[in-house]
Amino acid sequence: MIAVLDFGGQYTHLIARRFRDLRVAVRIFPHAVSPSDLTDASGIVFSGGPSSVYAQNAPLPDPKIFDLGKPILGLCFGHQFMAKHFGGDVKRSSREYGARTIDVVKKQGVLKGLNRRETVWFSHGDTVLSVPQGFEVLAQSGDAIAAYQKGNWFGLQFHPEVHHTPCGQKVLENFAFAVCGEKKLTSTFSVELLQQDAKARVGEKNVVMGVSGGVDSTVAAFLLKKPLGKKLYPIFVDTGLMRNGEVAEIKAFFKDFPNFVAVDASQRFLSQLEGVSDPEQKRKIIGHLFVDVFEQAAQKVADVGFLAQGTIFSDRVESAATSSVSSKIKSHHNLTLPEKMKWTVLEPLAELYKDEVRALGATLGVPAEIIGRHPFPGPGLAINIVGEVTPEKLGIVRQADFIFIEELKKSGWYDKVFEAFAAVLPCKTVGVKGDERSYEYPVVLRCVHSRDVMTADWVKLPHDLLQTVSSRILNEVEGVNRVFYDVSQKPPSTIRYE
Ligand code: XMP
Repeated sequence: MIAVLDFGGQYTHLIARRFRDLRVAVRIFPHAVSPSDLTDASGIVFSGGPSSVYAQNAPLPDPKIFDLGKPILGLCFGHQFMAKHFGGDVKRSSREYGARTIDVVKKQGVLKGLNRRETVWFSHGDTVLSVPQGFEVLAQSGDAIAAYQKGNWFGLQFHPEVHHTPCGQKVLENFAFAVCGEKKLTSTFSVELLQQDAKARVGEKNVVMGVSGGVDSTVAAFLLKKPLGKKLYPIFVDTGLMRNGEVAEIKAFFKDFPNFVAVDASQRFLSQLEGVSDPEQKRKIIGHLFVDVFEQAAQKVADVGFLAQGTIFSDRVESAATSSVSSKIKSHHNLTLPEKMKWTVLEPLAELYKDEVRALGATLGVPAEIIGRHPFPGPGLAINIVGEVTPEKLGIVRQADFIFIEELKKSGWYDKVFEAFAAVLPCKTVGVKGDERSYEYPVVLRCVHSRDVMTADWVKLPHDLLQTVSSRILNEVEGVNRVFYDVSQKPPSTIRYE
């Protein structure tokens, strides 16, 4: 296993990701980890970080780490720190970003197999001008030393983990296999390592976890099933705001979990939502009630020590919980649960990216319907209804959404789009049904492409598909006499209604 020490760099998790791409087992540790916790590591990477090595509060590793005699790869901040620590000349300078050319003067160690000149990505403050005694220079960039070596220790001024450094993967490969002697795993992450970690952390305590049928919580539950067995209590709260057939589906997915609990709280949710049309108010009611119901169910479990969650790496980037030394980006509304609770949080997927979570799910036998699922927000169908949530509108949106999704799946479009759903608007318009005038709700179909949810574009679905969906909704769903297709981009719109 390669240990990556986190000095607060924005790319720390990318370093781990690149090693996983090489099918090398990797773990991220806080920068101040005790060297005695690294005895299993085959090699150690010092990540980059925002600090100058001259800053008073710069995060520094325990210097005894060098006594371990293990291979070390210092990147950017790690490169400058190691050079300074052993007496090299490190100049404090202003930050320099972007692509640079380096001259490789010795093609050895981690630079073995590189070209004489390589393009690399810099994002650094301080500059190493001369190496400590006993170190040799492997690459230069103008005055600056871009790479050095001493035995199995290396420093790189650039970031091999980013795509803008084309030779980067080769450098990491050299470090992992030639320097550290790692062997390729059979998959990009080690299921065993993730399971061992969870088992060791949990010990004898019981673990509760909220499951929603979404990709992340389901994959996390499937991962924990083997190491935790009967100690794992997956709790599903039926808010009454789930899609057509979804509750039965979730119960079926979890049938092999001995302590799966499903709580039907639909009446409580619907009665608290009665008469409420403000979107923020709706979200608050749902959020608070969810925590109450979950807590009540969890209190029935004896000796609970942990709350497991399907948090993945991108959730943590948004909530800035990626490391103790990185800077805050934004708060996330879904991460309120543990703050109110007294258990220790267990997040077995916290280092993984979405595509890795999907691949892990496939390895663990999570059903394909779950792995390929579109995002479905926690507040459920309540935010597909603009204004008050009533049983009538819930019925309409549930049926219309089901028809839309069914037709997208039949036509092969479901897997090509990021997210699709139906919503109902809080107004009525005139129509004519049979020989009679009708006065009913409009349904909106929303179907978008997006990479990161910050921006989205509407999908140019074929007209005949829209025609089929519209005819089915108008014929099969009572209370609807118009179907709209939303052709708005985000921004200025959002993906969901509310
Ligand atoms: P918007 O509507 O803000 O949605 O463009 C961006 C993404 O977030 C999802 N979404 C939510 N997810 N709880 C969630 O778990 C929520 O309250 C919530 N609101 C929106 C939405 O489905 C889209 O993928």
